[in-house]
Amino acid sequence: MDAKELDVLYRTHVDELEQSYASTLDRLGWDAVVIHSGSLVKRSEFDDQFWPLRPTPAFQHWLPLVEADAGVVVRPGHRTRLFRTVSETFWERPPKPESQAFEDAFEPAGGRDWRQIRDHLGPGRVAFIGEQRGNGPACVDDRAQVNPTDLTHALDALRTRKTPYELGCLVEANRRASVGHETLRKAFREIEASEMDLHLAYLQATGQDDGETPYKNIVALGRNASTLHHIAYGRRPAQGGGSLLVDAGAVCRGYCADITRTWVKGNGAAATSFEALVCGVEAMQQRLCALARANLSYEALHDESHRHVAQVLRDAGLARGSTDELVDGGITRAFYPHGLGHSLGLQTHDVGCALRKPRQDNPFLRNTSDIAPRQVFTIEPGIYFIPELLEALRARPEGHLVDWTTVSALSPFGGVRIEDDVYVGDSGAVRNLTRETLPAGGGRV
Ligand code: GLY
Ligand code: MN
Ligand code: MN
Repeated sequence: MDAKELDVLYRTHVDELEQSYASTLDRLGWDAVVIHSGSLVKRSEFDDQFWPLRPTPAFQHWLPLVEADAGVVVRPGHRTRLFRTVSETFWERPPKPESQAFEDAFEPAGGRDWRQIRDHLGPGRVAFIGEQRGNGPACVDDRAQVNPTDLTHALDALRTRKTPYELGCLVEANRRASVGHETLRKAFREIEASEMDLHLAYLQATGQDDGETPYKNIVALGRNASTLHHIAYGRRPAQGGGSLLVDAGAVCRGYCADITRTWVKGNGAAATSFEALVCGVEAMQQRLCALARANLSYEALHDESHRHVAQVLRDAGLARGSTDELVDGGITRAFYPHGLGHSLGLQTHDVGCALRKPRQDNPFLRNTSDIAPRQVFTIEPGIYFIPELLEALRARPEGHLVDWTTVSALSPFGGVRIEDDVYVGDSGAVRNLTRETLPAGGGRV
């Protein structure tokens, strides 16, 4: 889908959002809401530099503008107004938005200052949604409630149901990220590159600056893949064979892709065994994607993923015992401690599908919703050799179910994770957005 087609869908997206906001505000008894973009935040109290702005997701839901101290005022029955602050600094300028299509989608508010918002709130109950630090709350008067829980949760939940425009942005974000992943697969195959080299090559291939990526690229060679979010890039090129885990995304108009691939190269029995493990995780990840469907609870799918992990551990010679022994004995959790995935959208970890707490034995699961049409979420199982978790397991009686010789042979490869982004269509069927442009999940380069 090209930029013009996205612009056309954007207008319908804003219309749909106006209707959804009107019914949400009416249901919860609010008369108006101010959605603030955020204010610049200092990197440290002791210097004069600021972090790049991360606009609030509720603001980005309306428009792809990365500008501080902007606000949208939604008042059902009135045209939605956009306020922008013309910055007086001559040191920096905000980045140019990817599309200008929003410019005629709102009632222009004019002026140079977000404080004018106060004059457009009307009577009744008013809510402010935005960061509490910075200038935002100053734009509303004393009667406004800041981030009321009922409205915040309702807006978080609203963002989990994607419009056709949002789906188009997520498809494009996946396409952009795929280019970066394919570049790194080839670089790993052909040259001896360091993690830093690969990180920079990914930014170059996807045309992103470091601060623009949806989350800091995770680029891990060998043992470093056992750190789930490895971002302290090594500067020394990897020598010979080994493994590469890349968890990196891209953004389109604020919408994020979140993709992980794991590759292996080199000769020897250990590399061959690790390759078999990667292929086992790849096949398992595809089976789990095929099991996802509307009305299934995501936590049930996560529980099912542990039973699949038990089988992959047995196939790889890493563990023995029944599926129940491996799952209930905490063996699978020592090799696979994180959740199966999370909702995805304007936030990499979109919070609207995590409004309920997971069960106590799934502490890191970030999606506790029932799978529903128009959701986008990740499916990202993994198996890792995390020294702290495996040492603790070894000290427990259940440790005898693990083949520790195979664990030490494979530990230098760190671990494997394979992650795709999937969309649930109106029919309830699941579409894998990542595999449309990046068909292979991992294996030998
Ligand atoms: N990139 C972080 C995650 O996969 O959740
Ligand atoms: Mn993820
Ligand atoms: Mn990821």
